[in-house]
Amino acid sequence: MTDRHDLPAGFRWGASTAAYQVEGAVDEDGRGRSIWDAFCERPGAVKNGESGRTACDHYHRWPEDVELMRGLGLDGYRFSIAWTRVRPTGRGPVNAAGLDFYDRLVDGLLAAGITPLPTLFHWDLPQALEDEGGWLERETAFRFAEYAGVVADRLGDRVPAWITLNEPFVHMVYGYALGIHAPGRALMLDALPAAHHQLLGHGLAAAELRGRGLDVLIANNLTPVRAASDAPADRAAADAYDALHNRLFTDPLLLGRYPDLSAYGVGPDLHGAVKDGDLALISAPTLAGLGVNYYNPTRIAAPTDPGLPFAEAPIDGVPRTHFDWPVVPAGLYELLLTLQERYGDALPPITVTENGCSTDGALDDTFRTDYLAGHLDALARAAVHGVDVRGYYTWSLLDNFEWAEGYSQRFGLVHVDFETQRRTPRASYAWYRDLIAAHRAKPAMQ
Ligand code: FCB
Repeated sequence: MTDRHDLPAGFRWGASTAAYQVEGAVDEDGRGRSIWDAFCERPGAVKNGESGRTACDHYHRWPEDVELMRGLGLDGYRFSIAWTRVRPTGRGPVNAAGLDFYDRLVDGLLAAGITPLPTLFHWDLPQALEDEGGWLERETAFRFAEYAGVVADRLGDRVPAWITLNEPFVHMVYGYALGIHAPGRALMLDALPAAHHQLLGHGLAAAELRGRGLDVLIANNLTPVRAASDAPADRAAADAYDALHNRLFTDPLLLGRYPDLSAYGVGPDLHGAVKDGDLALISAPTLAGLGVNYYNPTRIAAPTDPGLPFAEAPIDGVPRTHFDWPVVPAGLYELLLTLQERYGDALPPITVTENGCSTDGALDDTFRTDYLAGHLDALARAAVHGVDVRGYYTWSLLDNFEWAEGYSQRFGLVHVDFETQRRTPRASYAWYRDLIAAHRAKPAMQ
């Protein structure tokens, strides 16, 4: 039977974090205000009124964190760059001190034998750009590409591959449609231009990166969508949901067109956002890899309320994480096989850029090792079935600020005491370290 030990030779092992979730130091060295700084100040927006003001204090403690990564034997570390450290108001002068921080981090990683994999946008838009409309405005895409060029000029000599955006779907839906994440707008389907402008930003930034000889990826949140039953109404609803969650953010990249959103009463120009030439830019063959963030499948039934063409249905009979997310490792296999079938030769190599679970926080976290093992086994099965999988970055290295959930969801291989900032590796840390070492040793034994 195929399992995680059969992942291909050269497979890359990593861990992920994001700037606002770990860095803290929000007022230091000229960092500007981001939409998350503002959102966390809104009464009731984040559980217990918490914020990323201090988070894991990674801004100061990164050398210790790099040592933890070295201890794991990671090949790669996925982190994000805070736009507001580099260009505090999203445009205009570059803040040298902000770039210096990432310069030091990159050098520290390389000295530890770890390849940096930066994400340029993990949801922390400069508030000054939000004041002008944020991702609802086309201009934001151009500001993003300028920022990408600035960062690439500084770090591109040492950083070979870059992720443009993290989960544009979640940012659009939570941030602009439902308002449960920053910037806290509840526009429902009027949020759709934020999808297109993020993808346009990806395309423009990808051109900047490729122009400097750098590899480009995007990290999409993807989910296999299952219909609640075979009834035509449930199946149609599942297709509609699939179009919104998966295809909206992948078809334009790989096929150069938007999916059919007529179930939403939306035409192919996404409320007028799409202009001539945009899709050519977005689908330019610049993707060296597709980053897949996978947490769980989604079960969909026919709508119960007018307004949206689907309703989410529960997934019963499986374990659930502390976040109450269903644990379905086979969903990762299903997702990757669907991508392969759907996009064929247009599908670039896959890297799992996030996968992991929150637990009750205990150091003995068998729940997490079971979760990781199950998903890595599923990944190995997908590889055997021909999917070109190149790496796996678990979410997350450290417990951190989990957005609207504050510090209540602990995703780390390493426990963080947020009072003292003391880091304590969990059992899953040793398990992951041993797995990586065993996988590396394998080709040599054959
Ligand atoms: C993903 C986010 C990441 C983290 C995990 C749990 O959607 O990209 O920042 O919050 O979920």
